[in-house]
Amino acid sequence: MRIVDVVVCMAGLAGAASVDAQQAGGRCDLCHAELEFLRQHTETLEEASALLVPSVGQRGTAHDERGCADCHSGYRRYPHPGTAATASCAECHPDPATEWSGGVHAVDAAAECASCHGVHDVASSAGLGETPGLREMNGACVSCHFEPRMPASDPHADSVACTACHEAHGTRSPGDPEAGVHPLNQHATCGTCHDQVAAEWERDAHREAVNETSGPPDGGTSLDEFDLGHPPAAPPGCTACHGAHGMPAVSGDGAVFGRSVVAACSGCHEEYGESFADSYHGQASTLGSGRAATCQACHTAHSIHATEDPRSSVSEENLLKTCRACHPGAAVNFAGFQPHADHADRERYPHVYWSYRFMTALLVGVFTVFGLHTALWLFRVTLDGVRLMRAGTGTREDRS
Ligand code: HEC
Ligand code: HEC
Ligand code: HEC
Ligand code: HEC
Ligand code: HEC
Ligand code: HEC
Ligand code: HEC
Ligand code: HEC
Ligand code: HEC
Ligand code: HEC
Ligand code: HEC
Repeated sequence: MRIVDVVVCMAGLAGAASVDAQQAGGRCDLCHAELEFLRQHTETLEEASALLVPSVGQRGTAHDERGCADCHSGYRRYPHPGTAATASCAECHPDPATEWSGGVHAVDAAAECASCHGVHDVASSAGLGETPGLREMNGACVSCHFEPRMPASDPHADSVACTACHEAHGTRSPGDPEAGVHPLNQHATCGTCHDQVAAEWERDAHREAVNETSGPPDGGTSLDEFDLGHPPAAPPGCTACHGAHGMPAVSGDGAVFGRSVVAACSGCHEEYGESFADSYHGQASTLGSGRAATCQACHTAHSIHATEDPRSSVSEENLLKTCRACHPGAAVNFAGFQPHADHADRERYPHVYWSYRFMTALLVGVFTVFGLHTALWLFRVTLDGVRLMRAGTGTREDRS
């Protein structure tokens, strides 16, 4: 006879309505680790399985030091009295619970504590920081969020927690200006790990633009005030160039990244994107050259400045050095070449504009004069021919 049966039998013999579980050493596992026993006291196998607590006696969870009764008070007696109650996670963890209730997962209880943490197998913070725990937690997120995917090509797949970018408890929509993944906050969120990049980027023109946008609600610059010709979809944070989920790696085969970043820059700086595409470097890149200059080769990645700013890699002071990285022998006048020359833009490229005008006028003039000359000449030749024919006919008649 198993101990379970002894305990239940004792309860029966004593004629008592309940038995103190303490009599069996307070061991809930006597019953809750016995599927067969639980099955006898439930309608279905599913119900029985739900009562089976497999972690009984197991170690390595966050609640190793908690006894069953710490969370389940009143269950020491069996049959369990109606007054027995299970403490909610929030009772013992008020702070995460408060944060959670301000996030998207609290709306219609979209994801509750147990949806992410489980119930009896809650991992400790330390466990969540290590790869197996981290993957398990990411797995919980993905079990509800099939989209957007985090493909294996993403440098963060598997090694970075979803919650490194998204708040674990006060989870916010990406469009919420308070969200860690919102472009206004990415320098801090991404910067927790990429601190060197973020530090360099602090002085970048795009960081300045983000700063201006995030000014006080009344004083912030609106996106259409930027001098781009059209407002960008979002402030130019880290993901404007890198993308979010599925971002291509930079190291390794950089070709995919190279193409995607040129497309990103060109999406906001349309005119410069077009003039680049028409340029020697642009055409060579399109044809697959991995050596020809792309936007970042001339402008840098995280230290981009306006041309007149002496810190800019394309400022008067630095331009030659920038070209010489790839054209070592370049003479001073080499840098006079204008990568973005646009003959239609009189303001930015007056020389190119007026040269183009002059050359076009010259071309049109030459062709007009030449054309007129040719037409008149043809006319004259035809006239001469007709005259000659008339004269010739007369001669033939005369002969016959
Ligand atoms: C003598 C066997 C036995 C012991 C000992 C026992 N339980 Fe139970 N428990 C059951 C059975 C059977 C059920 C199924 C529902 C019922 O009969 O109340 C159950 C149900 C439960 C439930 C679910 C209640 C519900 O309303 O869904 C909880 C929680 C629970 N037990 C916790 C405990 C804890 C904690 C201990 C130890 C302190 C414990 N039990 C000890 C047999 C036992
Ligand atoms: C840190 C708190 C905590 C500890 C410790 C704990 N539980 Fe639970 N347990 C819970 C929560 C929370 C639930 C889910 C209650 C619900 O879904 O309403 C639960 C559910 C249960 C259920 C019912 C399952 C169901 O579907 O109704 C049983 C049985 C149970 N626990 C037994 C145990 C036993 C046995 C132990 C000790 C080995 C234990 N629990 C330790 C928090 C705890
Ligand atoms: C009876 C109080 C109590 C209940 C109920 C309770 N916990 Fe805990 N929990 C604790 C204590 C005590 C610790 C360990 C002390 C510590 O390290 O903070 C802990 C630790 C944790 C940890 C690890 C903290 C760390 O820093 O490593 C997590 C995560 C956790 N609990 C989640 C939950 C979840 C989820 C629930 C609900 C299923 C829950 N707790 C229910 C008391 C409780
Ligand atoms: C969307 C998934 C998710 C939900 C829902 C969730 N957590 Fe967490 N929780 C996490 C992750 C991930 C961590 C790991 C630490 C981190 O990234 O901040 C964590 C950490 C914790 C910790 C330990 C660190 C700390 O902040 O104290 C506790 C305790 C905790 N959660 C309790 C809760 C409670 C209580 C609830 C329900 C009110 C809850 N969690 C809801 C994902 C979640
Ligand atoms: C039990 C299912 C479930 C789990 C587990 C879960 N979520 Fe959610 N989550 C939802 C639902 C439902 C919504 C609200 C509907 C929506 O916007 O997708 C949501 C919303 C979100 C949003 C806001 C989306 C938006 O467009 O507004 C983010 C970000 C998010 N969850 C991230 C996470 C992360 C990270 C984890 C894991 C730590 C996680 N979720 C775990 C169900 C879940
Ligand atoms: C490297 C940072 C990062 C990591 C890691 C990350 N995300 Fe995201 N996530 C973002 C950004 C940024 C957005 C905003 C969408 C955009 O800009 O395209 C986002 C958007 C979302 C959304 C909202 C989608 C929508 O269309 O509105 C959900 C849900 C989400 N992520 C869940 C997850 C889950 C689940 C994981 C883990 C598998 C995860 N995220 C990992 C950065 C991250
Ligand atoms: C204007 C576009 C742009 C913005 C904004 C931008 N990056 Fe980059 N990032 C690039 C380019 C281009 C490269 C490739 C540089 C190279 O080829 O060496 C790069 C490279 C990287 C790398 C890998 C190489 C390295 O230096 O470690 C990381 C990590 C990175 N960026 C993170 C970030 C973070 C974090 C932010 C926001 C704080 C950010 N980037 C903002 C364009 C950008
Ligand atoms: C929890 C830390 C963490 C956070 C937060 C994080 N990253 Fe990363 N990131 C990594 C790790 C780890 C790698 C892969 C190793 C490496 O190449 O540095 C990586 C790789 C990258 C790469 C590719 C670098 C290369 O050389 O190929 C880029 C680009 C990048 N991250 C950008 C971002 C952006 C943008 C964000 C914010 C939306 C972000 N990261 C948030 C840890 C993080
Ligand atoms: C999301 C849109 C966006 C993307 C993507 C983007 N930029 Fe910008 N860029 C801006 C905005 C906004 C400014 C600030 C313009 C202003 O102050 O009027 C700016 C400023 C600049 C400036 C300084 C010009 C000035 O007028 O201050 C240069 C140079 C520049 N970007 C080059 C690049 C390059 C190269 C890339 C790709 C590696 C890139 N940008 C990607 C939006 C973007
Ligand atoms: C071969 C080097 C080179 C390449 C490649 C290049 N640029 Fe430039 N860029 C320059 C130089 C030099 C200037 C300054 C002269 C000018 O405005 O034409 C400039 C100016 C700019 C400006 C104006 C800055 C200001 O202060 O107003 C923007 C914006 C810009 N480039 C964006 C881009 C984008 C986007 C790409 C890629 C699609 C790109 N550039 C590719 C060299 C380059
Ligand atoms: C990332 C490397 C790189 C940078 C930086 C770069 N170029 Fe180039 N450039 C190339 C390559 C590669 C070619 C093709 C050379 C060939 O096919 O022989 C090229 C070709 C050219 C050509 C046409 C062919 C020729 O050699 O006359 C001109 C003009 C030119 N570059 C100007 C510039 C100027 C001006 C700068 C600086 C503003 C610059 N380049 C910066 C890589 C670069």
